[in-house]
Amino acid sequence: MRGSLPAGLEGVLFRNGPGLFSVGGVRYRHPFDGDGHIARIAIGRDGVRYTNRFVRTAEFVAEQRAGRMLYRSFGTNLPGGMPANLLRMRFKNAANTNVVWHGGRLLALWEGGLPHRLDPRTLTTMGPEDFQGRLRNPFSAPGRWLSPTLPFSAHPRIDAETGELINFGLVFGAKNRLLIYRVDADGCMAPPEPHDLPRFSFVHDMAVTRKWLCLLLPHADFDIPRALFGLRTPVGALQLATHRPMQALLIPRAGGEARLIDAVPGFVFHIAQGFDQADGTLALDLARFEDYPAFDDLETLFRSAETGHDSLPRLERLIIDPRSGRCETHRWSERGAELPTTVPGALGEPRRFVWSLGAPATRGCPYFTALQRLDTETGMLAVRDFGRDLVGEPIVVGTGGGSDGAARWVLSIVHRSASAKTELLVLRADDFTDVAAIELPHALPPGFHGCWAPRAAVGER
Ligand SMILES: [Fe+2]
Repeated sequence: MRGSLPAGLEGVLFRNGPGLFSVGGVRYRHPFDGDGHIARIAIGRDGVRYTNRFVRTAEFVAEQRAGRMLYRSFGTNLPGGMPANLLRMRFKNAANTNVVWHGGRLLALWEGGLPHRLDPRTLTTMGPEDFQGRLRNPFSAPGRWLSPTLPFSAHPRIDAETGELINFGLVFGAKNRLLIYRVDADGCMAPPEPHDLPRFSFVHDMAVTRKWLCLLLPHADFDIPRALFGLRTPVGALQLATHRPMQALLIPRAGGEARLIDAVPGFVFHIAQGFDQADGTLALDLARFEDYPAFDDLETLFRSAETGHDSLPRLERLIIDPRSGRCETHRWSERGAELPTTVPGALGEPRRFVWSLGAPATRGCPYFTALQRLDTETGMLAVRDFGRDLVGEPIVVGTGGGSDGAARWVLSIVHRSASAKTELLVLRADDFTDVAAIELPHALPPGFHGCWAPRAAVGER
């Protein structure tokens, strides 16, 4: 370890991300297909302890036993073309997107299926979690054939004030539906709340204000026949029309009619925060792509500076007015930004600071080598760039209380390109100066999302 761990930094960091990129000699075509790998880093006065395991979903276990690919996944079809993929619409749950601690459960999440419950101390997979049957698909027989269970997005919002978790899932078919899930602090889920969706779309994250749930629906098409016949992967069958305006779907939290408002063009994976303003508008701080090439066209995405695409997401504030139906956007910075986040706390409480990954505007593609903190009061951006090293999602850790002032440290996994080693960085939350760096026992991709949990709750003394 370089530096020293500060007194007060005590807890357990859980990280999830794709950790295995092939099976039986077949390499996955898309990074979203990588099998979920959980890293657990316990920090306390006695030092640092590292544990890691793959999420042993039924599909992962079956494929590892067989030594070959048995399931189609989001971006990779089974070898053998159409005959091998025809009508095979049950996909591998990659369990690779997020890991959350809520209601006494540690859950590995993947937006297309059920969460998987893990032992928070050993990371042993305890099985899929359907919340006492609440996530069984209650809709039509063809819908149940496609998916016997309901999807649970990888971006639940947890209210630190009430302990409530709010999440969503999208179900498509003859009727397109949005399901809203509410799970209380004890892990008990209320009956899912269905809402009509105007059309097929693709949504990864949701904003929750005091008054509203807000989803940004991009214009998307899904080529069902080609996916069904195995001529395209699911990701290859998905097309986003980023030149067309997204629609903001607003659902009143207290009940009442949902509203649909034309927003701005583009595509949004991640929303840092949403809150209501005194004039009745909603403010959303998020990372927006103006242009996103075809989902399975990673070559174009990562060569976008050369191909004329502008595929670098940027931090913006969307102001949505539910009364007039107007939407405006303000760009915070031309620099690239992704995986934006704030201090965890009460849902819908405005936060002054937004932390994110960063990249110079000239890079043109989502290859993030910086951490940055936006001050939404002054518009100033504090940046630390790590050169050629890839950095992972910033996890903001504070002294409790959930206010901006409580933010003390930022934790981030960084992959050192020169040494091919991975470190956990502990940095000051305000200016990213070094506090400590801990080398992990093996190289690890920075992954997608994770959480910070209290030591005692997850089996550390
Ligand atoms: Fe995400």
